[in-house]
Amino acid sequence: MLIRDETPDDIDAIHDLTSTAFKPMPYSDGTEAEIIRRLRAAGDLTISLVAEQDGEVLGHVAFSPVTIDGAQDGWFGLGPISVKPERQRQGVGKALIARGLELLRETGASGCVLIGNPDIYSRVGFSSDGQLKYLDLDTRLVQRIVLRGFPPSGTLRFAPAFES
Ligand SMILES: CC(C)(COP(=O)(O)OP(=O)(O)OC[C@H]1O[C@@H](n2cnc3c(N)ncnc32)[C@H](O)[C@@H]1OP(=O)(O)O)[C@@H](O)C(=O)NCCC(=O)NCCS
Repeated sequence: MLIRDETPDDIDAIHDLTSTAFKPMPYSDGTEAEIIRRLRAAGDLTISLVAEQDGEVLGHVAFSPVTIDGAQDGWFGLGPISVKPERQRQGVGKALIARGLELLRETGASGCVLIGNPDIYSRVGFSSDGQLKYLDLDTRLVQRIVLRGFPPSGTLRFAPAFES
């Protein structure tokens, strides 16, 4: 399996994969694939990685800038992330996240945040201390990994593509 940056040829496969992977999820509002297109159009798709095997896109992860209490201080949001349903729980998501975090670290990012199931993301190093808030969500779902400096506190806001 190869983890690499997206190319223009991957765009439709990423869209289809994201729609398919999120469809059965109770927390999905069906907009995730479109969010990736909007991030790309807005220049906010800081990192977009695909997992490829035998020419097929098995997984994808996006990273985009976030603000905390209105400041963009080198923090990025992970997501959407998708793995083909028949290839889930085989380490594809973990490999995509590991590579994305490595790239963020190389560019001097402060860290990465996400909203998601702590059972999954604690396995790849994310945690919550309750200091980061997103809407009225349980702060245990609002997780981060610090790459440089101190753990953040305040109100998290994702790129505009997540809100339109
Ligand atoms: C979430 C998702 C991207 C994870 O990708 P994946 O390739 O299945 O995950 P991995 O196999 O790399 O697993 C990473 C870790 O999380 C754990 N994990 C994965 N899915 C899990 C689940 N549903 N419940 C609990 N733990 C889970 C794995 O056991 C693994 O931990 P380990 O290495 O210590 O065993 C994938 O399941 C997916 O596409 N889901 C549908 C779309 C979605 O919900 N996206 C995320 C929204 S927050």
